[in-house]
Amino acid sequence: MVNLTIDGVPVSVPKGTLLVEAVKKIQQEIPVYCYHPKLGPAGLCRVCLVDIEGMPKLQIGCNTPVAEGMVVRTRGEKVDTGRAMVLELLLVNHPLDCPICDKGGECDLQDYAMAYARGTSDVADAKTSKPKGVDLGPTIVLDEERCVVCQRCVRFDELIVGDQQLVLKDRGHKDMIATATGEPYRHHFTGNVTELCPVGALTSKTYRFKSRPWDLTRTQTSCTQCSVGCRMNADVRGGTLLRTMSVESDDAISDGWLCDRGRYNIGYVDSPERITQPLYRKDGSFVQISWDDAFALWAKALHDAKSAPESVGVIGGGRLLNEEAYLLGTLMRAIGVRNIDWRAGVQRQATPGRFSGTLEQLESANVILVIGASPAETAPVLDLRIRKAVRHGGRRFDIDAQNETAALMAARDARSVALVWDGSDVALGARFHELLSGHASLSTFIAGEQGNARGAEALGLLPRDTSLDTAAMLDAARAGTMRVLNLFGVNPALNFSDPALVAEAMRATPFSVVTELFMTETAKQATLVLPVRSAFEKSGTIINATGELLPVEAALEAPVGVLSDLEVLIGLAQALDIALPTEEEVRRTVIAAAAQRSDDAFGDARYVWSQKQAVQAQRRHLFAGGGTSAHDVRIAALRPADSLAIPVGV
Ligand code: SF4
Ligand code: SF4
Ligand code: FES
Repeated sequence: MVNLTIDGVPVSVPKGTLLVEAVKKIQQEIPVYCYHPKLGPAGLCRVCLVDIEGMPKLQIGCNTPVAEGMVVRTRGEKVDTGRAMVLELLLVNHPLDCPICDKGGECDLQDYAMAYARGTSDVADAKTSKPKGVDLGPTIVLDEERCVVCQRCVRFDELIVGDQQLVLKDRGHKDMIATATGEPYRHHFTGNVTELCPVGALTSKTYRFKSRPWDLTRTQTSCTQCSVGCRMNADVRGGTLLRTMSVESDDAISDGWLCDRGRYNIGYVDSPERITQPLYRKDGSFVQISWDDAFALWAKALHDAKSAPESVGVIGGGRLLNEEAYLLGTLMRAIGVRNIDWRAGVQRQATPGRFSGTLEQLESANVILVIGASPAETAPVLDLRIRKAVRHGGRRFDIDAQNETAALMAARDARSVALVWDGSDVALGARFHELLSGHASLSTFIAGEQGNARGAEALGLLPRDTSLDTAAMLDAARAGTMRVLNLFGVNPALNFSDPALVAEAMRATPFSVVTELFMTETAKQATLVLPVRSAFEKSGTIINATGELLPVEAALEAPVGVLSDLEVLIGLAQALDIALPTEEEVRRTVIAAAAQRSDDAFGDARYVWSQKQAVQAQRRHLFAGGGTSAHDVRIAALRPADSLAIPVGV
């Protein structure tokens, strides 16, 4: 530890700490533009000047490490004069844009100018004008004349994403942020630069001119769009979700970042295409019915099948909250139903067994083996941890036939190894797990797409013993032996490896229920479609890919007439006259389920389909063509273009 004095207060901090961080110990702040805790110092803007006793000139607090006996002043005439000069220079060409700037009210230039700058300027020349409203790419707009050239955006691309798309072009008063190639600025994490930018130079297309920060109501929640579960702030104005923002202090899960899916795929909650009333198929077309009638019809169908519970199937749960997943399993088992499976797409396993790792282990691994789809598409912020490991000297192998041997040899000699798998090809996962399980320091991760797949597994939404899995349920349905199919928040008609089987199964099942936000490919084939809340409209918990129990908080009211899956299950239980566990019992079960660590290895028999189903080499994309992202035209440019794969030889 190093002892020093800051503004007259004795402080003790670890050796190597920068002054900018040390002052936080005494709840003080040194203003910064180019410095950021996750990017480190750059020494570009000079706004962080401090006075250090014994040094003739002011020093920059962002790049000066503490020293024993150091005496530092963060305010005082000398510091304030220096800072005021820096701000005056930064403001020389800055437009007086605040009234129309999206950053107004949360802008570091505004705040520091108010705190430290003079109210007037000696510069008489006209300001240099630069381009405004430059379209940088599908997500970001640049107002160049607001830029203070801190280069946080440039360094984010270089250091965190490892992509180096943004660069600073030209020099002096002509400098300009642009992409190196002139191509649109495009990767999976672009939105983070709008938060890093200390001024209003970089703004999100989806949020421009939408609100002032003081008009927003903020709710901290967890993103449910993949298995990482990034902590996020949901900002709502007048009942509309306007933006999601990262939680800077969330070192444990998101590391302070959001991917563009978590940030931009939010407009669907306001889509006019959302269903808001139960729909019942009558004479080939859907008619609106009341919730009471919906519960009565559903309960009757289940009641009629009571003597043959093996003819009832439940598919879904990976998109439900833990509490909903638990009630779903409990209610269905209470009426004798055993065919329950959360899996409706290509992912078959969510719990990585006894070597389940933490994100700290992942980012410090020496060798990382990635098998299956890239986590950049399925669990993007987890991929940033892998990039961090690589930045610190780790070696990443995206396994294919060519590099498999080299990867395994590198793993054998490495101090710590991480295995990251997409959870789809069970045999492949099991093989690599087996090959690596003798390693002294192995951590395993399943980077899946479904936000709460691990929660669904922990709460029992997997087939047991002789009960049917999804593939077997669909097969049985096609053969005409299923009487009721219950689908919760899943769209197998789009995501299952054999959509034709799904269509035939739905057609052959006398009564099928789908809980959904939209008329999905599967919902269109159902008997009863029930409108449910999005994750922004309900509260509960999820379990993420590393086994963390994370809270989800409602930030929005749901549209009138829409219930949560939990309320739907309670309504069904009442119609069936089944008593459900109390809130307290549910809470305790969820906590216990999250704490329990499974010993199952990769490739446990439960994860293998009972019916032969090819593991489809599906193209994965962050904004996969279907799903919620299809319901927001503002992000249409982010979705993959439609394409058709034609098998060779046909
Ligand atoms: S655009 Fe923003 S983040 Fe990038 S250099 Fe300019 S002020 Fe800094
Ligand atoms: S990585 Fe996953 S959890 Fe995090 S913001 Fe993106 S979609 Fe949401
Ligand atoms: S924050 Fe210290 S030089 Fe920019």
